[in-house]
Amino acid sequence: MATLRVISVTGGKGGVGKSHLVANLGVLAAKRGLRSIIVDADVGLASVHVLFGLEPALHVGDVLDGAALDEALLKTPHGVALLPASSGERSLTFLAESQQVLLRQLWDEVAERFDVVLIDCPPGLHRDALHAAASAERVVLVATPEPTSLVDAATLAHTLHAETAVRAVDVVVNGTRSEKQGQLAFGRLQGLATGAPAPRLGYLGSLPDDHNVRRAAALSRPLVTLAPSSPAARAVDRIAAELFDTEPRALEHGGGAVIGLERRLRESASSPTQPGPRTPGRWVS
Ligand SMILES: Nc1ncnc2c1ncn2[C@@H]1O[C@H](COP(=O)(O)OP(=O)(O)OP(=O)(O)O)[C@@H](O)[C@H]1O
Ligand SMILES: [Mg+2]
Repeated sequence: MATLRVISVTGGKGGVGKSHLVANLGVLAAKRGLRSIIVDADVGLASVHVLFGLEPALHVGDVLDGAALDEALLKTPHGVALLPASSGERSLTFLAESQQVLLRQLWDEVAERFDVVLIDCPPGLHRDALHAAASAERVVLVATPEPTSLVDAATLAHTLHAETAVRAVDVVVNGTRSEKQGQLAFGRLQGLATGAPAPRLGYLGSLPDDHNVRRAAALSRPLVTLAPSSPAARAVDRIAAELFDTEPRALEHGGGAVIGLERRLRESASSPTQPGPRTPGRWVS
């Protein structure tokens, strides 16, 4: 049996290409024969199901209200399953005790039934975004080469270090003109991240700006099946090889079979069941 790999894909701000990467990594994991699921933790409008041309009936919130996982799971034609995000403002961080139990059961079931879990995180620094990212053993941070995106990515890296136990982050630079630009952007990000405690930053690679990505989104077809030899698809292939064809990484921040979720549940259990006041200047909503 393959080892469970839980990978979160996060970003300091919206629109950097998280969902595009998650969708295509999910397809490539399934192509390897790995039982794969995308967990959409982002309640935004352009959710990952749109990239597959699917319309969810139920979502993770319904599972926490008692629906079976299979009722909520969407089966894409590409082998990867998809658990749609809760609609509205529902937070997975602050749950009633009965729902914490159901969340734990949900993760146990996911861990049993799948080899690869890809979490599409909400962008930014708010608590749900941090916890979604920290739920994985491997955190992939997507940024674009623009200075503002790199500053946002560095801020997210610092915040993950300060607020969660994430100690290593893999960086993908998306929307590059050349491999060199990706490496330079990663160097800049490393520079921005020094000076305050941050997770160890590794460079997972770059994804070129490629009109095929927009074409795939417009057609609701995954890039790696629509245009497998396009520059962006080949770049996603290289990232998939690094994530899926290497030995799973030892957990950097403790946790059991289902990773940081355990810690997250402990944290939420010791927190108020409703969102408490956020520290000014620290959390953004
Ligand atoms: N490498 C690329 N080349 C060209 N277009 C891209 C590339 N990556 C992403 N895009 C386009 O950028 C837009 C944002 O991508 P995507 O939805 O994946 O970002 P996101 O980080 O998930 O955004 P959000 O935070 O809103 O969920 C989409 O229109 C997508 O087609
Ligand atoms: Mg998205």
